[in-house]
Amino acid sequence: MANNSEPKVTPWEVEGIVDYEKLIVEFGVKKLTSRELELTKEAIGELHPLIERGVFYAHRDYDVFLRKYIAGEPTALYTGRGPSGYVHLGHIVPWIFTKWLQDKMGIDLFFEFTDDEKFLYHKEYTLDYVRKITIENILDLISLGFEPKNTHIIVDIDDISYLYELAVRIAKKITFSTIKAVMGFNTSTNIGMIFYPTLQIAVCFLPTELYGEQTHVLIPAAIDQDPYWRLARDIATSLGYPKPTQIHAKFLPGLGIGGKMSSSQPETAIFLVDRPEDARKKIMDAYTGGQPTAELQRRLGGNPDICPVYKYYEILFEPDDDKLRERYNDCRSGNLLCGPCKAALADRVVSFLEKHQEKREAMRDRVEEYYLRNKF
Ligand code: TYM
Repeated sequence: MANNSEPKVTPWEVEGIVDYEKLIVEFGVKKLTSRELELTKEAIGELHPLIERGVFYAHRDYDVFLRKYIAGEPTALYTGRGPSGYVHLGHIVPWIFTKWLQDKMGIDLFFEFTDDEKFLYHKEYTLDYVRKITIENILDLISLGFEPKNTHIIVDIDDISYLYELAVRIAKKITFSTIKAVMGFNTSTNIGMIFYPTLQIAVCFLPTELYGEQTHVLIPAAIDQDPYWRLARDIATSLGYPKPTQIHAKFLPGLGIGGKMSSSQPETAIFLVDRPEDARKKIMDAYTGGQPTAELQRRLGGNPDICPVYKYYEILFEPDDDKLRERYNDCRSGNLLCGPCKAALADRVVSFLEKHQEKREAMRDRVEEYYLRNKF
């Protein structure tokens, strides 16, 4: 899809400034329109800022999923995490939205931790390392307030018996040339990675197996995961399952120039386990859309449209639409300088981290309640 000079979006790498409109065309997904927003209101009664502000911006059959839900047909949510390191603020964007959908719709969420994927992908990772990180990541997930009664965690290696039969049936439908083309694999890719997509796809069909009836699944995630869903949708009908549906988010950017927040660039990512003072420093060192000097900023104003600091307010840290608009206008007019804007964001992030880290430790002995294997 991309050459060296173009931005790149794959399930493993996101580089450069992403052109979200172009991705819609390249991936063959649909843009969310006022129709789907209206339908969301009809199904759920209200809209979440992440959809209202266009952070969730594209979909595959989200409208079909909502209609099935409205008609009272069986539905479930599915999302996941590849435990490659500590969770950062970007990862929780789809999880916050998923939790909102789950709370409003009262349906089950199946959450996959792909320890196998990350062990296979990163040459230097040991199984012990990914196991340890999986638990650490689970703590971050469940500390966001998910309820154990309808949140079911699957850890691929430990829970393979739930997935393997589905995976081999899926594997039989996908050729090497298809997986190479869709995932960008080549002949040097290890054979574990070539098989792995069957396990991410398997969870799309698992609710139908567990409930014993055709279940419509919605997957909220960032758009980088779309290649899996393309494959899943191609083979669903022939395997006897409803096509899984998706709602795609844009990325929370890193604190540097361009690119998404990524664990591989720790200086521009805020991890949920960061010491509050380290998070504050990263924010105060962030790239912004401001002018080189305060004097120029007052005269010419800044550019919130290219500013990661503004994006953090928009995506996670300013729920009030009027206050967000005011911040935008004050930046544009030069009334607001980058220093105070960053300092105020740092206060909000630090307060979030302090509360989160306290909850996280309290959740350590509750992990078992969330495992699918203890419930199904
Ligand atoms: P992973 O661990 O790379 O990412 C976890 C989730 O976070 C999203 N994401 C982001 N969202 C917003 N801003 C960012 N900067 C950002 N970075 C990552 C990802 O899209 C994802 O939703 N292979 C998967 C694990 C997986 C999965 C799934 C993900 C298994 N089943 C079903 C989503 C849905 C992975 O490595 O995700």
